[in-house]
Amino acid sequence: MRAQAGRRGEGGAGVVRARLDLRLLLGAFAAVAALFFAANAVSQLTMRRIDGASDAIALDAAPSTEHLGAIRTWVRQLELLAATAAADGDARARAAVAPALSALAAEVEAYLALPPFPGERGLWREVQLAHGEFDAAVRRALARLEADLPRHEPATAGIASAAERLSDAAARALEFNAREGRRLAVRIKEVRRRAARIDYALNAACLGITALAALIIRRHLRRYRNLVERQAELEEARASELESFAGRAAHDIHNPVSAAQLALSLVLRRGLPDGRSAEQVERALRSLARVRTIVDGLLQFARAGARPTPGVSADVPKVIEDVAAGVRPAADADGIELRVEPVEPCHAACSAGVLTSILSNLVQNAVKYMTPGAPARRITVRAEARGEARRGSVHVEVEDTGPGIPPDSAERIFLPYERGASDGKGGLGLGLATVRRLCESHGGRAGVRSQQGQGSVFWFELPSCAPEPRAASPARESG
Ligand SMILES: Nc1ncnc2c1ncn2[C@@H]1O[C@H](COP(=O)(O)OP(=O)(O)OP(=O)(O)O)[C@@H](O)[C@H]1O
Ligand SMILES: [Mg+2]
Repeated sequence: MRAQAGRRGEGGAGVVRARLDLRLLLGAFAAVAALFFAANAVSQLTMRRIDGASDAIALDAAPSTEHLGAIRTWVRQLELLAATAAADGDARARAAVAPALSALAAEVEAYLALPPFPGERGLWREVQLAHGEFDAAVRRALARLEADLPRHEPATAGIASAAERLSDAAARALEFNAREGRRLAVRIKEVRRRAARIDYALNAACLGITALAALIIRRHLRRYRNLVERQAELEEARASELESFAGRAAHDIHNPVSAAQLALSLVLRRGLPDGRSAEQVERALRSLARVRTIVDGLLQFARAGARPTPGVSADVPKVIEDVAAGVRPAADADGIELRVEPVEPCHAACSAGVLTSILSNLVQNAVKYMTPGAPARRITVRAEARGEARRGSVHVEVEDTGPGIPPDSAERIFLPYERGASDGKGGLGLGLATVRRLCESHGGRAGVRSQQGQGSVFWFELPSCAPEPRAASPARESG
């Protein structure tokens, strides 16, 4: 009792642990999925940051330094052109000043058209102002040279200082853009390094969680294996319980049945006053003979420790006929048609008692569970030999138009003490377990094909054999 309570307690704790593990497992899978998305998001963000920084270098810092360098070159060139034009009165140098001024203005404009870095606007203004002053100084000098008026100061006065201011402003802006370029390059490196660190951390977390999930699965598999083993032990224990029960019951029933048979035989031999009673006594004797056949078979089976007696054989058509004759009165009383399809002569490698027990169980179940009031109430028994007599098998089917078996019960109902929905019909749940055990211990098998609501076909297969050379089987005796 205490052990059972302890097992129940263990079972309860097991269920709680299994639920917890399942939650942990689901959590682990969710965490791995979340980490996967996080890693993806981090890599997207990193790419975007790197793209932004490299775009700023390629499309802003680098072209800015190019334009600012060109501005400084044009300033120097314009200073030179102005000086040449003033000193030698060189008309070609003078003519080249205007296009050079345009080229300088174009470079300044191109620089100012680029997006500013934070803090660059002040430098922009300096370049813009210095450019305006320089442009005005050059144009003033050009006008003076063209007017060729007498003057007390050189025509190029004011150009040098304006050129220096513009050159300095451009140099500061150039230095600023070069610094920004370096800063962006360093940032790209940092972003990549940080992303790699985050990636490592996420991968490590993923690995850890996966290992945890694997441990949980392993623990479950172990627990499942233990459960299966324990279930097998339990079934084995139930089966041997059934075996000893069958042995005991058969032994206990054997003597009273023999006594009743003897008494009824004596009554019959002494003669009865009316013929009807004699017929009833004969029927009772036949029923008792069938009970003896079953009891003998079970006793034989239980004594043999699940091993069939070597060399025994059962006449299949004869046993079918016998079982049908025994069940027919009950079937007729219930308005059930019991059909036996013609069977070719064949023998099964078991005692007639064992075959009778198997078949009676199936036919009696078919009668017992037949749906009341159904339009078709029919049971059909058929058998056929498959393969050669010595190496083949005998396949027997009991088909009914009853309620059928739900798919999830089809295997369960063959376990000892398992019953289906039986509508208040009595029973222990041992019939089909006995059928399967008898079949399997004789090298055969048993099963069911069924569609719920459309009846069932319970079948079994036993190895076939040649007829027994010796005395008739108990089934034959019973007639
Ligand atoms: N022909 C059938 N049609 C529908 N259900 C069936 C049929 N045969 C068996 N079953 C279901 O299978 C269950 C197990 O049958 P089984 O013969 O092992 O036990 P039982 O008939 O309940 O009891 P008993 O030990 O007296 O045979 C039954 O309780 C019943 O629900
Ligand atoms: Mg039954």
